[in-house]
Amino acid sequence: MVKVLFVCLGNICRSPLAEAVFNKLIAEKGLTRHISCDSAGTSDYHIGEPPDRRTLDMVGQYKLHLDHRGRQFSIQDFTDFDYIITMDRRNREDVKALMNHHTHSPKVFLMRNFDDRQEEPDVPDPYWSGKEGFEHVYQILQRSCQKLLAHIVREHKLGSSDFSV
Ligand code: 4NP
Repeated sequence: MVKVLFVCLGNICRSPLAEAVFNKLIAEKGLTRHISCDSAGTSDYHIGEPPDRRTLDMVGQYKLHLDHRGRQFSIQDFTDFDYIITMDRRNREDVKALMNHHTHSPKVFLMRNFDDRQEEPDVPDPYWSGKEGFEHVYQILQRSCQKLLAHIVREHKLGSSDFSV
C-alpha cells in the first residue's frame, strides 16, 4: 500500500479537501487496494475538530466524501507515510525541520509541484477568504491530485489501465 499524507497549517481547509479529492480519484481509477491517504496540520489549532464548514460545502458541491477530524502532524508520520505533500512552502519547512533526525525519509513535495498551471508555488490559504477562495483551492487540488496520482502510478508501476498523464 502506498500511503500519502497531505499537510497544511490547520488541517481543516486545504489538506482535508486534498484528501477528499485524492480519495475520489483513487476510487475512480480502481486503486483503493493500492493507495491510501490521510491529512494533518502542522499546528495544534484545530485538533479533534471537523473540517471547516466551507470545506464541507466543497465536499458536497463536488460529490466527494470526507470523514476527518483535525490532527497535528507528528514524527510518527515519517514512518507511516511514503509521500508527504505540503500545501505551501511554510508547511514544507515545518515538516522538514522535524525530519532532520529521521533515517526513514518519505518523499516530501509541494502540492503545486504537480500543478501544470503553477502560477505560484503555494496552495493559497483560504481560511480568511470567502467561498471563492475555497473554489480556487478546489480547482488547484483537482489538477494537482490528478498529476500526483499519475506520478505514483508510474513510480510504483501500479498500471491503472485507463490512466492518462
Ligand atoms: P488550512 O487553513 O491550513 O488550509 O487548514 C487554516 C485553517 C485555520 C487557520 C489557518 C489556516 N487558523 O489560523 O486557525
